[in-house]
Order: sequence, then C-alpha cells, then structure tokens
Amino acid sequence: MAMSSTRPNTLPALKRVLVVGGGGREHALKWALQRSPNIDAVWITPGNGGTAEQRIGIAESDLTGILRLCNSEAIDLVVVGPEAPLAAGLADGLRAQGIAVFGPSAAGAQLESSKAWAKQLMNEAGVPTAGHWTVETEEEALEVLNRLNRPLVVKADGLASGKGVTVAASIAETKVAIQDAFQGRFGEAGSSLVLEELLTGPEVSVFALCDGERMVLLPPAQDHKRRDEGDLGPNTGGMGAYAPAPLLDSAGLEQVKKLVLDPTVAALRQRGIDYRGVIYAGLMLTEEGPQVIEFNCRFGDPECQTLMPLLGPELAEVLQACAHGRLDLAPKLSVNSHCSACVVAAASGYPESPRKGDVIDIQLNPNERLQLFHAGTTRNHQGELITSGGRVLAVVAQEQSFDAAFSAAYAGLQQLHFEGITYRRDIGHQVRRN
Ligand code: AMP
Ligand code: GLY
Repeated sequence: MAMSSTRPNTLPALKRVLVVGGGGREHALKWALQRSPNIDAVWITPGNGGTAEQRIGIAESDLTGILRLCNSEAIDLVVVGPEAPLAAGLADGLRAQGIAVFGPSAAGAQLESSKAWAKQLMNEAGVPTAGHWTVETEEEALEVLNRLNRPLVVKADGLASGKGVTVAASIAETKVAIQDAFQGRFGEAGSSLVLEELLTGPEVSVFALCDGERMVLLPPAQDHKRRDEGDLGPNTGGMGAYAPAPLLDSAGLEQVKKLVLDPTVAALRQRGIDYRGVIYAGLMLTEEGPQVIEFNCRFGDPECQTLMPLLGPELAEVLQACAHGRLDLAPKLSVNSHCSACVVAAASGYPESPRKGDVIDIQLNPNERLQLFHAGTTRNHQGELITSGGRVLAVVAQEQSFDAAFSAAYAGLQQLHFEGITYRRDIGHQVRRN
C-alpha cells in the first residue's frame, strides 16, 4: 500500500534526512534538522554554496536520481522545500517506493499550483477568502470587469513564481493586466485567470505542519514582498521577515486554525488527499476578520529562515511524524519566545535581472542567536564563493526585542560584501521603534 495512506503504530528510527531544494529556505531547514541530537546526517540536493558538505548535485525535479540517493544513503526522511517538485509529483514518486516524505502529493500541492482549484476548495469548505471569478478567455475576463465596474486583482492560475499577481489600482490597470496575461506574459500559468475582489488590511503568514489529520502551528510571520524601502518597487520572493508577528496573538492564531486550517484539511481529506506537509496560509487581516489571500504547499522563503531558529530540536521528529501521518506520536515542538529578525541581501538588478558571478566576502561569525543562510551562492572554479541568483544571503538574529534583533541582523549585514549588495534597511518597520 502506498505510504500516503498508511499510519504506523510507532515511528521508525530517524538518523538520515535529505532536504530537496537549493534556496535559503532549504539551507535553514538543513540547519534546523541538524540540531536534532538523534540525527547523524542531513543531506541536501541540489543545495547551494553554503551547503557544500553533503551536497549532491541532483536536480529537485529528478525523481530517479533522488530515489537512487535515498536508497544508497539509507535516507529515513525526505523534506521537500520548493513547490515545483511537489506540484510535479516528487512526493508521490518517493512514497510509492516506501520513502517517508514531508511534502504533499501533487494533488495536495494544487492548493498552490492552481489558484482556481484552491478557491473552489475554500468556497466548499467555507474558508473566508476574497470573492473571485475564474475565466478562460480575455472576453470572459473583460465581461466580468465591465459588469463589476471596479478595479480587481488579476492572478495567473498556475505557478508563476510569485510574479503572476497584479493588484490593480484602477479599472484601466485591471484591463491592461488581463490583456497582458492573455498575451502570454505568464506563459502557460496565465492561460486561465482568477479575478478577485480587492481586500485591504495587513498581511501575515501562518504555517501549519500537517499529518493529513492533525497539525502544529508555527508562530505567525510577516514577510516583506516589495523590493524597496517603504514597501515600494516590484514584488519579490521576499526581502526580509520577522516572527512572531504581533498582528496575530495566540487567540488570533487559534481563530485562524478554526476558520481556515481545520476546514481546509477536512476538505482535502474529503477529496481523498492525505496532506502531509506544510500548509502556508497567506492571510489578510481585514475588518471582517482573516481572509485567505493564497495558500502555498511549502514553507515561505524567507519566513522559513526566520522561523527555524525559534524552533526546538524536536523539529526533525515532528516533520517525520507528519510524514508518517502520526503527529500524535511526535514530541511537543518547543518554540523559543525570542523575536526573530531576517534581512535578505540581494544582488543588484533583482528581481528582473540580478547581477551574478561576483565574489562574496563574509566576515560574519554565526553564533547561537545569529545565523547566515545562503541562497543564490555557488563556488567558482577557484573554489571562491560567488553570487549566482537574486536573493544571495539572509542574516537572521534572535533577541529579546525586535529592536535588538534587527540591530543584530543589520550589524551582521555590515560584515557581508559583494559588488552591488542590496537590502532594505526598513525590514520590521512595523515592530521597530528605531
Ligand atoms: P499572491 O501571489 O496571491 O500571494 O499575491 C501577491 C500579493 O498580492 C499578496 O501578498 C497581496 O499583497 C496582493 N494580493 C493578492 N490578492 C489580493 C486581494 N484579493 N486583495 C488585495 N491584495 C491582494
Ligand atoms: N515569502 C513568500 C513566499 O515564500 O511565497
């Protein structure tokens, strides 16, 4: 029987873990999993310049290669970081061979890979979310716009690396976004669109570690999606984050569980989906209460880098228990009460055309409360660390207050150098006093 439907009576030994992915999120996952006293080794593929040891160059899309590695290295648990391999069925392929995976099946990953599917599930489950219209043609889209006669949010249906959304300020802008999408701006992802009502309010990210039935919630986190200070400029994957976001206290988080996450897991089960992985709810806290802006089927990046240092060494066993559908057998996940601050150092030109190939000089010495996670880094032929992507490094600090945590993170950034290094100096402006 496929692993996805089995629930063992006890959890097997957990010694060897494989993280799939090559970003800052995956570097942070590897770092956090290594804190478990029982773990012998954490492998990562394809990894990046910061994860050189135990790094294997197998692409995240290469099921056969990953399977071979799992067998040769006797891997007990695979943790899949990014959405693309999940949407392509990597977890299904591994589970079919009896390997425990933290990460949903392709069917479950539709929460992220198809906005229309996720919307339908939310509507059926009664999960609060913006009103929406799914359209297949430009005519249909313009007809909806004419009828409603107000600006709408335009979203590509498929995966578009966070770039498929236009929050239009006017009807004219909505129209341009619709026309652009049907002219192929988002490729295949934009061949069908979701039009949405415009919501207003602060945004917060909530992460639930799910075993198909039960879940553990992580502290809420606040991302900073725009590239430039003052929350201006183009949308990015995220330029920094902090946690716990005071926007949602424990009662607020409990309300999100009741209103959003419990009904979502129940609706997934009704569709026969045994969801074993992260549900990332991107929420807008509107005057009418929390509303789902989007679901993702993975940890946020850089929210993951921000959250991992707050979590206890039980994390590995918790993820393993989720993978086996037995969260009830896991130790309680301890959460440090410190404030965690994360700032991303990006390459100049990010996100449109990031500069690459510059040598990176790192003077920073990480410690218990200060971490450096790599993302777009690699080694050149001389073995030097060089930039290789838009978001290059992230510095994360934990302190008693957000002021102290951000001072430490920014002091850490001063010790990183590469040509064109770019970062926002106002990450955490919502919670900082200086
Ligand atoms: P998404 O990729 O769906 O997370 O959207 C990217 C960003 O667009 C979100 O983080 C929000 O800031 C914004 N956004 C998406 N949907 C809406 C909406 N219905 N109303 C207002 N802003 C939205
Ligand atoms: N930081 C936002 C995301 O990972 O989608």
